[in-house]
Amino acid sequence: MKVIVCETYEEMSRCAADVVADVMKARHDCVLGLATGSTPVGMYDELVRRYEAGELDFSAVRSVNLDEYYPISPDNAQSYRYFMNTNLFDRVNIDKAQTAVPDGSAPDPEAECRAYEEKIAALGQVDIQVLGIGQNGHIGFNEPAEALHPLTHLTALTESTIKANARFFSEDEVIPTSALTMGMGTILRAKKILILANGEAKADAIATLLSGMLTTSCPASFLNLHDDVVVICDRAAMSKVQA
Ligand code: PGA
Repeated sequence: MKVIVCETYEEMSRCAADVVADVMKARHDCVLGLATGSTPVGMYDELVRRYEAGELDFSAVRSVNLDEYYPISPDNAQSYRYFMNTNLFDRVNIDKAQTAVPDGSAPDPEAECRAYEEKIAALGQVDIQVLGIGQNGHIGFNEPAEALHPLTHLTALTESTIKANARFFSEDEVIPTSALTMGMGTILRAKKILILANGEAKADAIATLLSGMLTTSCPASFLNLHDDVVVICDRAAMSKVQA
């Protein structure tokens, strides 16, 4: 596991964009595994800046996202489809037909999960999967539990995740309590994994990840099974790592 510690969120975002840009330059029709949440917003801004500067071309890029609330309509401003459109897809020359986010409005969530796995398999390997990390160590919406799912599935969100995400919703909005998410195996099949974390709230999860041990109480710790993981974080997120 390669760990890069940055001084500021801006530096983290540039550094993360460097890693993604290298993958895009190596393969113009690469498959990007993308994440939502507040952490990667700066990385998306930086990728857009580089696209505007003529340094990056998204025209042949394909993408798959980690997860989506369920149920939620794709045009709901809180949906992850909406997040991806506004933070990245609408700002670069990607073909939106080549971007996949689990469909939070699918009538049959189990069928949607199976179809999503098939979609990812049809793309071949994901070249790089970008991840944030939950305060509780979740990746995607693979929440701490006695057992973890290998494949895309419908899951209930934990209280801690619902609380952490409540800040994105206004008072009169109903916060979804379930989600469709790639499973641990889906994530671990990516060729390369980039995980980003900033702030003290992530320090426990990062300490568990970097302990090198595996525990289902911190799903991110399973990234220790992968041989090409880059962790980019700030000093606050690193503050509980044992020397
Ligand atoms: P955040 O979420 O980037 O908004 O902190 C990360 C996550 O829950 O995976």
